[in-house]
Amino acid sequence: MSTRGQDGGGVAAPASGGTREAALEARASTLDLPREELRELARVLNGLTLDYFESASSLPVFPETSAEQLEGLFRGPLPVEGLGLETLERDCGEVVRHIRHNGHPRMFGYVASPATPVGAFASLFASALNVNVTSWRSAPAATEVERVTVGWLAEMIGFKGAGLNEGAGGLLTSGGSMANLNALFVAHRAKEAEWREGGGDAPGMTGDASRRGLWGAGSPMTIYASDQVHLSVPKAADVLGIGREQVRAVASDEGYRIDVRALREMVEADALRGLRPFCVVASAGTVSTGAVDALSEVARVAREHSLWFHVDGAYGALAAAAAGKRALFGGVELADSVSLDPHKWLYTPLGCGCLILREPERARAAFKGTEEGYIKVFEREESEAFAFWDYGVELSRPFRALKVWMMLRYYGARRVAEAIAEDLSLAAHFGASVEAAEDFELLAPVTLGICCFRYVPPQTRPALARADAGERERLEAGLDDLNARVMHRVQRGGRAYVSNAILRGRFALRASLTNYRTTRRDITVTLETVREAARECL
Ligand SMILES: Cc1ncc(COP(=O)(O)O)c(C=O)c1O
Repeated sequence: MSTRGQDGGGVAAPASGGTREAALEARASTLDLPREELRELARVLNGLTLDYFESASSLPVFPETSAEQLEGLFRGPLPVEGLGLETLERDCGEVVRHIRHNGHPRMFGYVASPATPVGAFASLFASALNVNVTSWRSAPAATEVERVTVGWLAEMIGFKGAGLNEGAGGLLTSGGSMANLNALFVAHRAKEAEWREGGGDAPGMTGDASRRGLWGAGSPMTIYASDQVHLSVPKAADVLGIGREQVRAVASDEGYRIDVRALREMVEADALRGLRPFCVVASAGTVSTGAVDALSEVARVAREHSLWFHVDGAYGALAAAAAGKRALFGGVELADSVSLDPHKWLYTPLGCGCLILREPERARAAFKGTEEGYIKVFEREESEAFAFWDYGVELSRPFRALKVWMMLRYYGARRVAEAIAEDLSLAAHFGASVEAAEDFELLAPVTLGICCFRYVPPQTRPALARADAGERERLEAGLDDLNARVMHRVQRGGRAYVSNAILRGRFALRASLTNYRTTRRDITVTLETVREAARECL
């Protein structure tokens, strides 16, 4: 029995008053569940989750399914009445049978990783808390946990710590695309403000994009990135009104890294033409091959030309946590902002990206104007007045940090870094196996966890070596077509999964390893699967 009705001075209420009190405490409808029903729900869903962790490696990577079959299974009328737990359990089983399993050890497509059990249960717990991480006021502990977590991530990649970038901060986002968008927004507003404050030397500039938009903003403000940059960068330029054409593609070298000399020349030539270079984006792990730009050198160009230096480390930056890899990322600490994705190489459940800012107050300045009365913060102490809406686009935000924070506390950074290091060494093994085979060709250096290769029928190899330009093009086109068909066959076969990259116009099979379940055996099986598919396609 509730005690709430007895709060009025401890006097026992008369019977009719008690009924009235009870009525005041009741609702006609609630979605809360009685204790037993809640326990049963938890038992079933826990069971599904545990079964999944135990069986993910033995399921087909990609299901044998079709759009028609899925319509038959899932299209139905809106259930006006609840269908009960048994039906839900069956439905969840169908979902498991008809999805691609990103946690499968032979899932090498795109950049996919398995969730850790700790991350998965942390997600459930965060959902139960359903805390809205807008600000300290709305979510005191969650805000602190997120700020601490961002600091740890910055430390793991060598951006922060031991006196380095101690003022750095940032926020978690839905993923790398949002982190890049957020970074470019801050970069644009920060540099635009610098120009304005410096006398607005841009021709025709009437200024203040924040209030007036880009109308009359003067000559185009340009971004520089290699021709390998992830699509989220031009997309962000589009969304921000900067324009995709203002993302100037700098040539990459034979290792798919930005050509720093070409970068410098392009920035200088554009400035002479009256454009306004304001930002350079370096890749710390390109999406196609995993190449890492020479970050220190790019930082130097940024400094010389007053550019905002953003590092897109969504795919690769966390590899800096692995033993022996830190030097490859040297210079990341010079960035104004860095994107990285815990939902890629930290095995955090989707979606969890992160934007680190060397001087978070620049984001605050960029987002200034978010000062409506209904979000006014009355806290006076600096940490208690902290609000994530001052640093990013979102207002309502889930408790993303819990899954990263719990994971790092449970496993410890060393154990996670060891898993990343093993992925890296398996990728090197993948590359070496390709190179050792007569019928495979490695198409890019294996720098991090990505191996780009293709199947070349044994008889085609000598023909390619002898071919003149015309004949070579014909053979290359044939290989593109063959490997595209091989990829599709492998993907739908369910035994292994590879995706593709287009490298210098040629089709490459692409295997990406960010999976703490993958072993050498999986690599052998995958290469054999590709080989079999190729023979069937010939
Ligand atoms: C280099 C790079 N940047 C950005 C992204 C976008 O990240 P997300 O898919 O989390 O939005 C990716 C995704 O693969 C990436 O590889």
